[in-house]
Amino acid sequence: MKKYIVGITGASGSIYGIRAAEELLKQNNEVYLTITDNGKKVMSYETGYEVGDIIEKLKNIGKINLCNNNDLFEPIASGSFKVEGMVVAPCSMSAAGRMANGISLNLLDRAADVCIKEKRKLILVPREAPLSNIHLENMLKLSKSGAVILPASPGFYIKPQSVDDMINFIVSRILDSLNIENNLCKKWGA
Ligand SMILES: Cc1cc2nc3c(=O)[nH]c(=O)nc-3n(C[C@H](O)[C@H](O)[C@H](O)COP(=O)(O)O)c2cc1C
Repeated sequence: MKKYIVGITGASGSIYGIRAAEELLKQNNEVYLTITDNGKKVMSYETGYEVGDIIEKLKNIGKINLCNNNDLFEPIASGSFKVEGMVVAPCSMSAAGRMANGISLNLLDRAADVCIKEKRKLILVPREAPLSNIHLENMLKLSKSGAVILPASPGFYIKPQSVDDMINFIVSRILDSLNIENNLCKKWGA
C-alpha cells in the first residue's frame, strides 16, 4: 500500500482534491489529507461539504488519514516519513507563493516543501485567472524545483457531457502524473 498526500487549499475547485483522494483510495493507496483553513471555508461554500462529510465518504473507500493542517508535528511534516508523492488540488496562488519561497506557514506548505527537498513527486493544480507575473514566476520556480504544474483547465476535445467529465479529465491527468493507470477519461488515440 503506497502513501500519498492530498492537500486542498482555498482556491476554487476543492472537488478536484476530493476526487483525487477518492481515486487514490480506490486503487488501494493510503491517503493523508490536509486542508487549509481557507480551503475548508471555500470547500463548504462551493460544495456544501464540511470536512466531516468528506471523511465519512472517503472512510468507506479506503485508508484515509485526516491531518491537522495547523499541527507541524504530524508525520507528513518530516522527510523521514516516506510518501510516494503529494497532490495539491486546488492550489491557491497564495500557497504557490509560499511554496515557491520556502515559507511553511502550515502543514500543507511544509509537506510540499518536504516533497521538493526530498525530490518526491509534487503535483500542483493551480486555479486562477488571469495569472499575474508574480503567479507565473512562482509557478516557474516550482516547476524548476521539480513540481508538476497541472492547471485546472479541462480539455474540450473529449467532448464532455457533464461537469463530472470535466473533473475526471483533470483527476485523470493527476493520476497520469503520478504514473497511476486509470480509465477516468478516454485517452487520445486509444
Ligand atoms: C470563494 C473563493 C474563491 C477563491 N478562489 C480562488 C482561486 O481560484 N484561486 C486562488 O488562488 N485563490 C482563490 N481564493 C482566495 C484564497 O482563498 C486566498 O488567497 C487564501 O488566502 C488562500 O489560503 P490558503 O492558500 O492557505 O488556502 C478564493 C477565495 C474565495 C473566498
